[in-house]
Amino acid sequence: MTPVASPRSVRITGWGRYAPAQVLTNADLERMVDTSDEWIVSRTGIRERRVAAAHETSASMGAVAGLRAIRTAGLDPDDIDVIVVATLSPDYWMPSTAALVKEAIGNTRAAAFDVAAACSGFVYGYATASAYIASGMARHVLVIGTELLTRFLDYRDRGTCILFGDGAGAVVLSGSDEPTAPVGIELTTDPQGAYMIWLPAGGSKAPSSFETISQGQHKIRMEGKETYRFATRTLASTGLAAVAKAGWTPGDVDLIIPHQANIRIIEAVAKGLDLPMDRFFVNVDRYGNTSAASVPIALAEAVNSGRVKPGDKLVFIAFGAGFTSGAVALEWTADPARGPIGEASVSPEDIHVRQPVDWDSVDPIPPALAEILARPLPVALDLSDVAPGEPAHPAQSVR
Ligand code: UT7
Repeated sequence: MTPVASPRSVRITGWGRYAPAQVLTNADLERMVDTSDEWIVSRTGIRERRVAAAHETSASMGAVAGLRAIRTAGLDPDDIDVIVVATLSPDYWMPSTAALVKEAIGNTRAAAFDVAAACSGFVYGYATASAYIASGMARHVLVIGTELLTRFLDYRDRGTCILFGDGAGAVVLSGSDEPTAPVGIELTTDPQGAYMIWLPAGGSKAPSSFETISQGQHKIRMEGKETYRFATRTLASTGLAAVAKAGWTPGDVDLIIPHQANIRIIEAVAKGLDLPMDRFFVNVDRYGNTSAASVPIALAEAVNSGRVKPGDKLVFIAFGAGFTSGAVALEWTADPARGPIGEASVSPEDIHVRQPVDWDSVDPIPPALAEILARPLPVALDLSDVAPGEPAHPAQSVR
């Protein structure tokens, strides 16, 4: 990475997303755990989520979304100075997923590292990238949120396995000498929530062992009610702080792109900010909770489906394990028409993540998902089908 000139204003110039083709519906989950479509829809708003195929990883999905964002920005991979990957489901503990993404997208010169802030990771990554550019240390930064959560779920725990899905989203942030509207960024961390959403084993506190595996300690655990309370308490206040830092009031905001965890949480935030639901972009019905990927996937869909135009005031808000939360208030400046061009220019087959040598291949698919992943893929539909917040969607592929 070569340092560039003086401090600059920061804007989004590229955006992209990727969702694996296979769909896991509530009806599928009804056959796996004691749950019902009615319960899941009424308590969460989720109807279906995506499941990565055996050959896909967080790095491969993130690389597709990232390269699409670079193409949307009209840049080449080597224009990127820094790659920040937000994920709680990295390919490995080390190397970083960002290092794998860097090679897979054909970048030879960027600094690359991961950010661990769970579902707030994309917002934390955005703030990090913004600081690199504003300080003059970088000109173009790629920020990716990518998650492969379906391999970290206990398919006997109906409190968690119905919530999460796989996917990736990305933005390119670029420095500009033209002044832009003020940006407001707010980040918080409340360690009181440290064990409300957690993955107990595999770290230095509880290294992997026969016992940790047999006790299921490598799967996500969550205190749903406490997490829900934190989210509804914190999201509105974090969002309000970012809006105030931008010099706006909530009524000035054109579109809020919230972390897609639960429609009831989004409705509570709307109430807290005294805004109607049509100011919120919602796609939780089709993807479930994709953690750090949820805000950038929703952003790309919002822009590509015509919900965002230059001059619009946007707010990203997220919360997650830690407990972390974060919000960014910014004015949109890019041409939305570039999104579909960038999306169409990268096929998942273009991406090759380096494979380890001397490694006996393991089957990464949880046994509970084997049957779903063996069935034929749904037919691909185009983006014009995307209707924000629409409750019932046919299965569609975002490839
Ligand atoms: O990115 C951050 C990630 N985490 C979150 O966003 C989670 C935030 N929390 C939530 O979204 C909600 O708390 C949940 C959706 C997880 C649960 O909804 P809830 O309204 O808080 O339900 P609950 O935990 O109070 O459970 C109510 C009942 C219980 O049965 P009893 O004790 O009343 O007989 C649960 O056992 O619903 C039962 N239940 C289920 N029933 C059918 C819990 N999960 C399920 C399920 N299907 N999947």
